[in-house]
Amino acid sequence: MKFRLGTWDLVGEELEAVLNTALTIGYRHIDTAFMHCNEQSIGRVIRDWLESKRVKRKELFITSKLPPTGMHPEKVKHFCQLSLQNLGLSYLDMYLIQLPVGIKYSNDDELFTTSPDGTIATDCGTDIARVWKEMEKLVEEGLIKNIGISNFNEEQLEHLLHVAVIKPANLQIEVHAYFQQRDIRRFCKENGITTTAFCPLGSPNRDKILFSKGNCKVGNLLTDPMVVCLAEKCEKSSAQILLRHAIQKGITVIPKASSKERLQENLDIFNFYLIPSEMKQLDSLDKGQFERTFDYSFLGESFRTHHEFPFSPKIDESLNPHH
Ligand SMILES: NC(=O)c1ccc[n+]([C@@H]2O[C@H](COP(=O)([O-])OP(=O)(O)OC[C@H]3O[C@@H](n4cnc5c(N)ncnc54)[C@H](OP(=O)(O)O)[C@@H]3O)[C@@H](O)[C@H]2O)c1
Repeated sequence: MKFRLGTWDLVGEELEAVLNTALTIGYRHIDTAFMHCNEQSIGRVIRDWLESKRVKRKELFITSKLPPTGMHPEKVKHFCQLSLQNLGLSYLDMYLIQLPVGIKYSNDDELFTTSPDGTIATDCGTDIARVWKEMEKLVEEGLIKNIGISNFNEEQLEHLLHVAVIKPANLQIEVHAYFQQRDIRRFCKENGITTTAFCPLGSPNRDKILFSKGNCKVGNLLTDPMVVCLAEKCEKSSAQILLRHAIQKGITVIPKASSKERLQENLDIFNFYLIPSEMKQLDSLDKGQFERTFDYSFLGESFRTHHEFPFSPKIDESLNPHH
């Protein structure tokens, strides 16, 4: 199934209401992360649905992620167990390393341990290969069905493939029409790794949320004239055009939405087809490296200069032909 519900930025009762609606209208795949601090709410709803036999566990596909404070070999199982406990599950369908950069662990609740000078206390000893070995053990122990990574670059993926006994099943990265990430997606395809697109709608609300503050130069994809024009032609919404573009390329999408109308709209993308010329038009919206939204630069200098920081430094904006 090339469709999952993104849940970042949703918490508490709002999340529980959204999830109940989503499950009622047919969503079965849910994406979360320890870092989202919403696993317990998701767990409550899932438990309710399982206990009332409205859904079977094997019909659900639940993804969660190891936080950067868990990027220590001795902490991998611990954080996996915390996620399982939060979600009330005995296994996860997918567990991803959320970021290749490790942050020093202080306690379970401290997601961004800080140094005395107030900067993020990154871990200079982060060793992806050793962390991956522990991820593999989770599969061997039956706690996880599939393991993968998120926010890794091609070089890091290549390195991982050399040391992995169990190859990563999935790479979750930012992908949308303005930022199509063709090279790394091609690399994944050649190596049998599926790609999941986060921010598939270009995260139109990102400037209102902490993670992207100060980094919201990306235009609004939903109002892009070409997207709007195609939407009118196909009698679909802009969101449906963008999601359809991605799934027709074999990319799994995890859009987040809050209302029943949007949840339904985003799901109704399996009853139409974009013809090759329309796909090409959407392909041409790619603005390459300039349009990354989630570069995690909000975590500051110590994060950006970590030896495993995956993204190139922001290039001089004056070189960007699109601004
Ligand atoms: N691995 C990572 O590091 C990482 C990083 C970022 C995100 N993610 C995952 O990816 C998911 C999606 O990313 P995202 O939430 O930033 O971006 P997104 O899915 O591209 O966009 C979500 C935004 O679009 C709006 N929206 C949804 N459906 C719409 C529709 N049909 N028409 C108009 N607007 C619509 C939503 O508004 P309303 O909510 O108001 O409906 C929300 O503000 C996250 O929830 C999270 O699970 C992972």
